[in-house]
Amino acid sequence: MYREAILKKFKPSLDNILYILHDLQDNNPQRYLAKEDIRVCADYLNVPYSYVHSVASFYTMFSLEPRGSNIIRLCDSPPCHLMGSKSLLDYLKKALKVDVGGTTKDGKFTLELTSCLGVCGVAPAMMINDEMVGNLTPEKVDAILEKRRQES
Ligand code: FES
Repeated sequence: MYREAILKKFKPSLDNILYILHDLQDNNPQRYLAKEDIRVCADYLNVPYSYVHSVASFYTMFSLEPRGSNIIRLCDSPPCHLMGSKSLLDYLKKALKVDVGGTTKDGKFTLELTSCLGVCGVAPAMMINDEMVGNLTPEKVDAILEKRRQES
């Protein structure tokens, strides 16, 4: 039902395909584009399923696999490396007991890497869902994970 509400927000124009896919993904409880999401988008825009699937596969911001309710994207670009993002990645992997691309057993977190988030002045940085977090330290990571565990 939520899919219909999302589609109604946009004109059925190909110009809106990325907005629609974003909204569908954000509202999927497993934060990914299910086959049904791609199908409704294709039907709405009157294009083949394969067209929408190819768009969704092309952009790294879309996932075609189920993910956790919190998506952590740690910046993997050189300025963040210089400020210690590599050791934070090791810390996150250990804290979550997952590798990059993995989802925790409780389905609460997925760990991903991303290129520059545009906030190099507060490197190292990561996003958790829509929230940007800079000046990361292991203590800050712990606090964020704990807060999100309690919320979800
Ligand atoms: S390099 Fe990490 S935010 Fe720019």
